[in-house]
This record gives sequence, C-alpha cells and structure tokens, in this order.
Amino acid sequence: MKVIIDTDPGIDDAMALLFAHYANDIELLGITTVFGNGTIDTVTQNTLTICEQFQINAPVHQGAGAPLQVAVDPPPAFVHGNDGLGDIDAPKPKGAARNQSAANFIVETILKHPNEITVIGIGRLTNLAIALQQHPAIAQLVKKVVIMGGALGSNAHTGNVTPVAEANIYGDPHAADQVLTAPWPVTLVGLDVTMQCIMHRPQLQKICSAAGAAGRFMWAISRHFESFYSASRGINGFPMHDTCAIAYALAPHLFTTQSGAIRAVTQGISRGQTIMVSPDRKFPAGAWTDAPIQQGCIDIDAAAVLNLFQRVLTRP
Ligand code: RIB
Ligand code: CA
Repeated sequence: MKVIIDTDPGIDDAMALLFAHYANDIELLGITTVFGNGTIDTVTQNTLTICEQFQINAPVHQGAGAPLQVAVDPPPAFVHGNDGLGDIDAPKPKGAARNQSAANFIVETILKHPNEITVIGIGRLTNLAIALQQHPAIAQLVKKVVIMGGALGSNAHTGNVTPVAEANIYGDPHAADQVLTAPWPVTLVGLDVTMQCIMHRPQLQKICSAAGAAGRFMWAISRHFESFYSASRGINGFPMHDTCAIAYALAPHLFTTQSGAIRAVTQGISRGQTIMVSPDRKFPAGAWTDAPIQQGCIDIDAAAVLNLFQRVLTRP
C-alpha cells in the first residue's frame, strides 16, 4: 500500500509513524506536517528527528502553520509537552524538510500514482484541503483517505476539546468540512473508536521492552501522555488515537463502519462537531443533501488492534 501520512507529532503521532514504518504492508512515500500538537516548526523538527533516529527514509514536507480561516490555538502542551514529544529532550534533527510544500507534494504524488495512494491524515486537515483547492481532480485519483478525527457519538464519545468536538476537526473546521465533503472516499476514524482503544501500561511495558530503540523512545515520550490521560480521564494508559488510523488502513476488518454524509460544523458553540446522516434517513433538502457518502468507524476490535501494533513493533 502506497501511503502518505499527514501528521503533527505529537506523542501518538510518533507512535503511529513508527507503526507505519515497521508495518510490512505500508510503503511510506512521504510524510507531510501540519501545525497542531506543536507549532509547524516544532512538529516538522519532531518528524525529522523520528525519521533520522529510526531510519525512515520517506521525504518530509512541511505544511500549513495555521488553519484556513479560524485563529490558530496555542499547542496543547498539557497533553504532548512543550516540545510535542513529552519533553524528553529528543535530539535535534541534522537534516531539513524538502523545499516543496506539503500540499504540492500530496498533489504531485497522487498524480504520479493514480488510484494507488492512501492518504492518512492524523492531524488538522489543512494540508489536505489546500491540496484539494490546488488540484480538485486529485479527489478522483486517490485510492482512499483515512482520517483520525471527529466523533460521531458511538460508544458515547462526542468530543475531547469541547463536549462535541475532537481536536483535529476543531483545530481547522473549514478544512475538515472541505475534506469530508469532497468527492473522494473518506473513512473517519474518530473518538468513537480511538477512545475504546486504550494502551494499558502492562501491554506497553511488554512492547517497549521488546522493541529496542523504538521501544525506549515510545516509553519515554508516552510518560507525559499517560499522566495527562490518567489525571484527566482516570485511565491507566492512553488512547491510541493516531495508531487507529494506521490500523484501519492495514486491517479495516477490525473496525465496524457506518455510511453517510458527514459534515463538520465550522462556527458557534458546536464548532468542530462532526455530524453524519445515514442515507436511509430522509430529511428535507439541506446542508447534507449533496454531500458524498463517506464511512465513519463506529466500533473496533481494540484488543486485535493493540495486538497488531504489538506484533509489528516487536517483530524480530
Ligand atoms: O484528538 C486526538 C488527535 O488530536 C490526535 O491526532 C492527537 O495527536 C491530537 O492531534
Ligand atoms: Ca495527531
């Protein structure tokens, strides 16, 4: 599977990148960065550091530093640390991002490999929206788009930055709405399933002690993330948000999906909410009428996803 990952490392992004890197079935053609868990400079540096430390040879392309229309929020240091990687004083990268922008790289790569590219977005959707604006025809030429973002209300999960909004969608709601309503095949891997997929400490300890340098790195960066989730949610572990999107691309049978048009609310107290309308429900013509039918994950075999992650990271 030829893959581009659009990301904002970010502790769970870093784990997702390592998962994708070590998964045999993924050919990582490039990594694009977007503001979110840190400033665009921070997340790009973090991506380069991860690539250098773990010999990930994919090119890194820097993307958007701010949302399309709303103001940029300060990075959530209380979740990911001031440096986006749990304040472990990770080495600074020696190399730099390529000169070509993230959006240009996404467009060029999809055009070069028609119907072969899976784009996995695990941050704000700004780069994907800009790529669509630059070259709308990519919507017909991409194989699929998998997004960690949003919440459809399954398993009683509705939001993590407001009662109704998930961070990646809230952070650039206009981009999210453009991406969700474009005529390309999107699967939303939202809080509905990622909050069901908790990496508890005993399994993490097992993985990290068997995964060499990657294990030591994952253990170190995840201390901050684990403390945040244990203090705020009383969980003895943390949700594997971004890893779930990679897992969906690798093993979609581990997820239950539902079809429907999905839109993101762009303003007001519901900003960032993702709302899906089933094609079976009939409403008077309105905002969802012409939106394409997409897929949303509503359930997950969490134990199988965590075991897949474990197998990939600990393979000899
Ligand atoms: O809401 C979870 C998402 O927000 C993840 O992508 C995480 O990395 C943060 O960006
Ligand atoms: Ca992320």
